Amino acid sequence: MKTLPRILCLKDRSFARLLQWKSLLIAATIFTVLIPAQVDVVRAEGQAQSTGFQSAHDPGVRTDAVDAGQPLANLQQTPGAMEFFTNGQARFAEVEIVQGGVNNGLGPRFNTNQCSSCHSQPNVGGSSPSASVYPFVGPNPETVVYNLDGATNTLPSFITPDGPAREVRFVNLLNSNGTVSSTPDGGVHDLFTIQGRSDAAGCTLAQPAFAQNLALGNIIFRIPTPIFGAGLIENIPDETILRNMQRSSAQKKSLGISGHPNRNGNDGTIARFGWKAQNKSLEVFAGEAYNVEMGITNELFPNERPSPDEELLTGLPASCKFNPTPEDKTNLLVATNADATAENAQVPSDTVQFAMFMRLLAPPLTSNAGIPGHPSAQSITNGNQNFINVGCALCHTTTLTTGTSSVVPALNRASANLFSDLLVHNMGTNLADGISQGGAGPDEFRTAPLWGLGQRIFSCTMGGRLICLMRLKSTRARALRPTESSRTSTI
Ligand code: HEC
Ligand code: HEC
Repeated sequence: MKTLPRILCLKDRSFARLLQWKSLLIAATIFTVLIPAQVDVVRAEGQAQSTGFQSAHDPGVRTDAVDAGQPLANLQQTPGAMEFFTNGQARFAEVEIVQGGVNNGLGPRFNTNQCSSCHSQPNVGGSSPSASVYPFVGPNPETVVYNLDGATNTLPSFITPDGPAREVRFVNLLNSNGTVSSTPDGGVHDLFTIQGRSDAAGCTLAQPAFAQNLALGNIIFRIPTPIFGAGLIENIPDETILRNMQRSSAQKKSLGISGHPNRNGNDGTIARFGWKAQNKSLEVFAGEAYNVEMGITNELFPNERPSPDEELLTGLPASCKFNPTPEDKTNLLVATNADATAENAQVPSDTVQFAMFMRLLAPPLTSNAGIPGHPSAQSITNGNQNFINVGCALCHTTTLTTGTSSVVPALNRASANLFSDLLVHNMGTNLADGISQGGAGPDEFRTAPLWGLGQRIFSCTMGGRLICLMRLKSTRARALRPTESSRTSTI
């Protein structure tokens, strides 16, 4: 079978000068060894042979023991912390239904029915899974929920069992005659509705017009970003981010690298979560995801959520709204339980507990020791140095230090080895997705944190885009080509 060309599509106009082929190849090589990864590096065909550099190869997704998904170190030292972690983790994996059970509230519109479905590779808290790649978590969860319990949804063409879980946004609203208007939409259009489910009798609600918007080139996709180490990211002071932004300013200037924080509209401090650093905190993200991904109203987002176009018209039909709101709330009754701490953990809402779980999740660990059959420890060290030398670390800052923490010692003045400056950068028109969020414009994206990349299956080709690292011999990559290519240009 013909393999896909090895492509590195670099589109950041701000650092185009840095990326001559030679440095590109070094970076690609080092990048694989730095974060022994799924990443399929990445050289332009016909370019590599002339350089004399040892060619990089894709070591594949790391197949050593899965260490991601554990709680932060020494949680036991803080009474209650482990109980909150475990309780939050369990709620993060709960399967939601519409009504009549314990975990109610799903829909009317939704993408999947549990947080952990999209955040599961290589462990709960991660990103989109695969049934065929280590550790074989399972197929794209969206292909499992669409017809569950009698639901009558059809799968959009771009949702496939072996592809990534995708969240869909439409760039602009459509005119009544079906053409694309110049009015921004930008919002998430959930893939599915509860119509036909046995726990949603009487609800009639159509899915969005995906085929039409796809044909019009009016769709963009985002894939799940992992949450490991998110508590560290949350606790990095604004001043640290700003000081880091000023660092190496002459070098950045000479390379045309700029970047700025995406400030939160409510309190003006630096937002940092999501592809465009559009969300301020883990709790805000949890509340938003609960309503946007699953349709579950909560104390942060208390109203049922229609599609963006529906919101401008008459909203959701009453026949599809089954529960009092908010569907997730602080539990006024304390469950009787011999363990007082565990009892406390039952009181907060799911939203709060999702945030606690994410806050207490340990960061992924870099493989410093080398992996049998994969890059040696020496290669990894060399790669790390080259990654810095070639300029990747000017945006992908290796380490930022957290502030003092009121939560647990592990979050207190700790090194977050996240490989990100948490700023948004102008990636140029070819990578623009046409969506503005807060201070992040249509062509700006957060420097993607690279920790844990070695245990991820899907990356930039499906969501982030600076460097499109395509896996060879991959039906997955092939399957993604048609729809991604419109926005990732050279793939
Ligand atoms: C249908 C798939 C899906 C489900 C279900 C889902 N997420 Fe996500 N998650 C995503 C996507 C896609 C992104 C990136 C969104 C963006 O940046 O616009 C994301 C990003 C995040 C982030 C940001 C991490 C970072 O540093 O960028 C957090 C936090 C998060 N999700 C929490 C949750 C929680 C909590 C739940 C359950 C309430 C949940 N997610 C359910 C798809 C999902
Ligand atoms: C100008 C700042 C900047 C520089 C310099 C930079 N990156 Fe990035 N990188 C980004 C941004 C921003 C993204 C997210 C892109 C998007 O979402 O479209 C990203 C994404 C990535 C991703 C995808 C991660 C994911 O989660 O999917 C990889 C891998 C990556 N960069 C590696 C590198 C390497 C290797 C270098 C050095 C050759 C480098 N980057 C240099 C800003 C930068």
